[in-house]
Amino acid sequence: MDDLRDKYLTAIRNAADEGTLEEVRLAAIGKKGEVALMMRELGRMTPEERKTAGPALNALRDEIASALAARKHGLEDAALDERLASEWLDVSLPARTRRRGTIHPVSQVTEEVTAIFADMGFGVAEGPQIETDWYNFDALNIPGHHPARAEMDTFYMARADGDDRPPHVLRTHTSPVQIRAMQDRGAPIRVICPGRVYRADYDQTHTPMFHQVEGLALDRDISMANLKWCLEEFCRAFFELDDLELRFRASHFPFTEPSAEVDIRCSWEGGTLKLGQGDDWLEILGSGMVHPKVLRAGGIDPDAWQGFAFGMGIDRIAMLKYGIPDLRAFFDSDLRWLRHYGFGALQVPARHAG
Ligand code: DAH
Repeated sequence: MDDLRDKYLTAIRNAADEGTLEEVRLAAIGKKGEVALMMRELGRMTPEERKTAGPALNALRDEIASALAARKHGLEDAALDERLASEWLDVSLPARTRRRGTIHPVSQVTEEVTAIFADMGFGVAEGPQIETDWYNFDALNIPGHHPARAEMDTFYMARADGDDRPPHVLRTHTSPVQIRAMQDRGAPIRVICPGRVYRADYDQTHTPMFHQVEGLALDRDISMANLKWCLEEFCRAFFELDDLELRFRASHFPFTEPSAEVDIRCSWEGGTLKLGQGDDWLEILGSGMVHPKVLRAGGIDPDAWQGFAFGMGIDRIAMLKYGIPDLRAFFDSDLRWLRHYGFGALQVPARHAG
């Protein structure tokens, strides 16, 4: 029995993998293993002999079984250590410089705009791209006969035959999200609403789908002065020009009163556009104080709350900031264009230095 013990404990200690260990187990304490065979011998022993041999054999089987279990754990631990040593990954290594994909300028600029307005306390709201004509027009003080409806080259959705409700539209601007945000969140509120908009138009500066961002700020006493500061702050941060001059030009939108279009100073000298210098002005956005009727449509009491709104083209300001000449190329999915104008995935959006 001592010989058996030595033989198997040594074999267990020397087993280099779980397969070998299993062979040792079968040979020692398997059904046809040596210990089992010896147990069968018990029948032929005298009762006296059996009294000592029986418990000794049981003890031997238990000892071998626990040595097997211990060795098995040891082998598993060693296998794990080996994997940990060979499969490590240094997550602090710098990313590969070869860019596989790029961030589209529209996504990049949306991030930049969102970051700048977030610094001024604006959250983000979204709305559906398929709108009712009430949200897209009526709620924004553009009634059925208003020329703005015709000017916007609206895409109308078809209704089923015999359904004479007004058709849904592909939203022509992000302004309907103002109404939804007012209804959902009430006042006071500060949100921007970036997203896709649609108009039936196509040339170098127009595509049937493009992007806008809407802004809305309501409180008890928000004035035109806050509007001017906020847009000036935004333009200087976005174009990264600390002393960029803005011009607020009286204008008209049905949803604001008074309304102002905002131009930035620029020069076209030598046929190239330079922002922030020269004697020309470039229009970049529309804005104004939210019309009382629009507040009411959003469920807000115009005697208690007031504020400003603005809207601008994301693609347009992307073209201006990054010198991209043709809007149509934005949506061609041409890899050469994307590699040239796209942004690295790990590039952090430019932020206002202050
Ligand atoms: N919705 C206008 C457009 O698509 C842009 C706009 C102008 C939005 C003035 C506004 C605003 O909120 O106050 O042309």
